Amino acid sequence: MVKRIAYGGSAKMVLCECLSVPKSSANKVLSYLLKQDVVRKDLKIRYEMNHVLIPVKSPIKLDGTLAERHDFQVRDLTVSPVERVNRKLEEMGIEGRFPDKFIMFGDSLFIKEKRFQRLPLKVFGMIAKEFCANSIYLDRGIGESPIREPDVKLLWGRKGGVTHEENGIFYSFDPTKVMFSPGNVNSRIWESKGHFNEKTVVDMFAGIGYFTLQVAKGSPRARIFACELNPNSFDFLVQNIRKNRMEDRINPLPGDCRSSTYGLRADYILMGHFDSPQFLATALRMSHKGTMINMHIICDTATINSHWIGIQRRARELGYLIDILDQKVVKSYGPHLWHVSSRFIVTAAL
Ligand SMILES: C[S@@+](CC[C@H](N)C(=O)[O-])C[C@H]1O[C@@H](n2cnc3c(N)ncnc32)[C@H](O)[C@@H]1O
Repeated sequence: MVKRIAYGGSAKMVLCECLSVPKSSANKVLSYLLKQDVVRKDLKIRYEMNHVLIPVKSPIKLDGTLAERHDFQVRDLTVSPVERVNRKLEEMGIEGRFPDKFIMFGDSLFIKEKRFQRLPLKVFGMIAKEFCANSIYLDRGIGESPIREPDVKLLWGRKGGVTHEENGIFYSFDPTKVMFSPGNVNSRIWESKGHFNEKTVVDMFAGIGYFTLQVAKGSPRARIFACELNPNSFDFLVQNIRKNRMEDRINPLPGDCRSSTYGLRADYILMGHFDSPQFLATALRMSHKGTMINMHIICDTATINSHWIGIQRRARELGYLIDILDQKVVKSYGPHLWHVSSRFIVTAAL
């Protein structure tokens, strides 16, 4: 059956295959279809009385939905979602512009502007529609506690979690409970380059599996131990190991890495926590001649080219000689502050 609906104005219309979905399940179905990459993003979704019409790339069958054909308005893809939102904010009489900086994890939109928390729900609905998002979060940063709890609030949409795909790995997490840093993407990709087959890898601060899952992807014959103290992060770590079918290579270890790693010997040690210098003794206890240690550290501009000297000195006090291999700036961390990833090699135990 083909329905044609008359629209006012001069909007360009296109006849397209679509799924007619009851409103109550529309968010869930849309999120599923977006993940399958079958939605025609160049066409505007239509909201009818009790149904939502989602344009798809080819005919598709899905329980609880009807496959139909309808006319759809063509989205103006030459205009960015930010610009489209700004135009609509103006039309709705809302002051201020949408921030240029935002993040999308999966189908969730993260913004940092506090003034957005007081907008009417219909404005959030409009923003979500323009970004094809299912939820909108206010991101107020990461707390100072050692377990790096985020200060993130759900402003609009579906509760419960986000699934983000990066470099072929699926990360599920609840952004109101655990952190995810978009800036570390190059470090995560480096871990996936297959350096660790037949090696034992210990990720002392695994979180939800940011680095661990990439190591496991690139080095399927590595033996990996992933430590995590925060019970919320640990639950997501276990879920993500299962989701990516990596139970055979990753051993999740709950609790404090200072005790959970007791008795382990490692060829590669990941220390993705800014307090990592305080955990040097634990890392060295697991090391042997040739072990590589990757520490994530915050440095200021004045010490960026010498920060490792103090770490080498501390290692020597603990009875080990270590050499710096290289360092990479991951991102700026504030005025004159840098997040640096520094790789060391253990050259001798005295
Ligand atoms: C900064 S997050 C991981 C960040 C990730 N590597 C990145 O840079 O995006 C550090 C993780 O270490 C965990 N953690 C903190 N202290 C720990 C400890 N003593 N033993 C094990 N995990 C710990 C925290 O709960 C947190 O999930």
